[in-house]
Amino acid sequence: VTTRAANQERSYVMVKPDGVQRGLVGKIISRFERKGFYLKGLKMFNCPEDIAKEHYKDLSSKPFFPDLVEYICSGPVICMIWEGKGVVKSARKLIGATNPLESEPGTIRGDFAVEVGRNVIHGSDSDENGEREIGIWFSSGEGTAEWTPHMEPWL
Ligand code: PPS
Repeated sequence: VTTRAANQERSYVMVKPDGVQRGLVGKIISRFERKGFYLKGLKMFNCPEDIAKEHYKDLSSKPFFPDLVEYICSGPVICMIWEGKGVVKSARKLIGATNPLESEPGTIRGDFAVEVGRNVIHGSDSDENGEREIGIWFSSGEGTAEWTPHMEPWL
């Protein structure tokens, strides 16, 4: 197990097909940038079923699993790696509760969604899952680049 420095924590964040189709990609990226996280991976991707099933494998016994897989594969997604201190937990806060009717206004789902089955965005729920999911979606490394932000105290 590789331990990453505290300021190099990573989350896998994905704009789901409804978010892409509704033109929310730029707004979503802006929210992560303005918070102070660093974009370390980005690609548009038509997700094959096996990747969706692997990503959500812990949910395979849920009644909604087939619909969830179909939804994720229904159009292109935007796959992202966001890096920074506390990014996993903070991303979940920026995203809001799973059911958009429960998400606070000001969160992404709270502002842009109504249906749990069309909730616009995914964010990793733990550090371990973050690294696992990055491994699934960015397995070839394509869409990623190494870069170091200037660490001036502007945040
Ligand atoms: S559970 O049942 O508590 O394990 O599920 P939960 O943690 O709330 O959600 C896990 C992911 O499943 C998605 N989800 C659904 N998709 C489609 N239809 C229904 N009814 C549904 N319920 C939950 C939910 O959005 C979570 O996906 P991600 O992408 O991780 O947010």
